Amino acid sequence: MADNIRFTLNDEPVELSGISPMTTLLDWLREHRGLRGTKEGCAEGDCGACTVVFELADGRRRPVNACIALLGQVDGRSLRTVEGLRGPDSAPHAVQVAMAEADATQCGFCTPGFVMSAYAFAAGGEAADPETIHDALAGNLCRCTGYRPIVEAMTKVAALPVAPVSSAPERPQSAVFEGRFFAPRTLADLLTLRAEHPEMLLVAGATDLGLLASRLRKPPAALIHVAHVPELTAITEDKEQITIGAATTYADALPILIAAYPVLRTYLARLGSRQIRSLGTIGGNIGTASPIGDMPPVLLALEASLKLVSSRGARDLPLDEFFLGYRKTALASDEVIQSISMPRLWPGEVLFCDKLSKRRDQDISTVAGAYRLRIKNGIIEDVRTGFGGLASTPVRARNVEQALKGQPFAQAAFEAAADAVPKDFQPIDDWRGSAAYRLTAAANLLRRLYWRIAEPGRAVEVEAL
Ligand SMILES: Cc1cc2nc3c(=O)[nH]c(=O)nc-3n(C[C@H](O)[C@H](O)[C@H](O)COP(=O)(O)OP(=O)(O)OC[C@H]3O[C@@H](n4cnc5c(N)ncnc54)[C@H](O)[C@@H]3O)c2cc1C
Ligand code: FES
Ligand code: FES
Repeated sequence: MADNIRFTLNDEPVELSGISPMTTLLDWLREHRGLRGTKEGCAEGDCGACTVVFELADGRRRPVNACIALLGQVDGRSLRTVEGLRGPDSAPHAVQVAMAEADATQCGFCTPGFVMSAYAFAAGGEAADPETIHDALAGNLCRCTGYRPIVEAMTKVAALPVAPVSSAPERPQSAVFEGRFFAPRTLADLLTLRAEHPEMLLVAGATDLGLLASRLRKPPAALIHVAHVPELTAITEDKEQITIGAATTYADALPILIAAYPVLRTYLARLGSRQIRSLGTIGGNIGTASPIGDMPPVLLALEASLKLVSSRGARDLPLDEFFLGYRKTALASDEVIQSISMPRLWPGEVLFCDKLSKRRDQDISTVAGAYRLRIKNGIIEDVRTGFGGLASTPVRARNVEQALKGQPFAQAAFEAAADAVPKDFQPIDDWRGSAAYRLTAAANLLRRLYWRIAEPGRAVEVEAL
């Protein structure tokens, strides 16, 4: 069985066959479709020059990096490029007018990407406050204008009335493109494929795997795309826990996560950019098993567990037991991560998390830490930690936890915890940070944790070093 890739591009239907589904969307737009308004800057999701917008059926617009999105992922979507932005009577779109009037462009190379990010922002009805605008633009770089005029243009387009979205072609059943991009629509189809082809890589948002096609120019031979399987995108909540489907994008999961753990608002705003969070998933962050992924430390501190499924059945595994070594996990070759369950915070529990990176935005952590403490009657009754960047996998700091558990909530306990850091970790030493830096940073984050709880407002919130 072979299916054609079908999507809507700038209000027109597109149907493709005879082209590799591993072609990046950017290469297809520029080299095959001749739409060269979308630019290639970095080819790795960092600069935003390639930003296009996925338009969802409910009217929401999501900015996406076309350089790392694969054609197979675009099937069943409606997408808009800068060529598809038009004002009344084919005049420039209001976003383009605002950019021009604010002198927000010089050489112009970054401009289509900024315009598309601004278009997604304008359509979202968000407030034009500095924090929101910063967040909306964090995935776009400009080397000429200095951002002030771009921000000015953004304030003018906030909450702009926008045209309805074009509908995407329906794709109710599982599909396979060119015999190598498998797009199951049911869990049963996904698990059968996984059992029959354990050698094939799973892909969700491709914000990690897409770099094989864009930067390395060595796309995977075959992929199983998990993003359209309902069980993997479901979110369920009850009084005790929240369960997020592994293929839920950050953009979809954020409102639920922030409501349950408000501290994640600032932490997750620094996970990639809006473009990355539009397609990137929590399951992909766990599946990639990077020692410096941002979600595992938080999920370890929350005592999250994974539901792993295969055609043999399902099992629950604490996340703590999932990471076995550098990029090695407990996932069997026929298994898929279906969902991640995380307990809610109980009364008396607090959760804090830190990300230290070289750059505030769009940068992977050098050190990440998360800490959940239950403090009752002045005693630290329970504590759970998760750290990234301090070992070959994301890990708990068991000696640190032991130093805190059962102790009176006082500075001395946190000093003891800081002293325990070297017992827990033998960190990597690389260009992001020396082993000594990582140990010192982790110890100091624990010292700061005391002040954050004892005297909120006194501790300086360091976001990037
Ligand atoms: C510019 C840029 C900035 C980034 N910034 C950050 C950052 O700040 N913090 C951070 O942590 N990460 C960052 N990343 C990395 C990436 O965005 C995240 O790791 C993201 O969560 C990956 O999700 P995905 O769905 O795109 O994964 P994919 O690329 O689709 O897959 C990643 C891995 O997970 C596996 N996988 C996917 N789904 C499943 C599943 N259901 N079951 C089992 N295995 C699965 C895949 O086989 C693959 O090995 C960044 C990436 C880029 C390009
Ligand atoms: S080309 Fe730089 S983010 Fe895509
Ligand atoms: S205007 Fe030149 S890079 Fe932005």
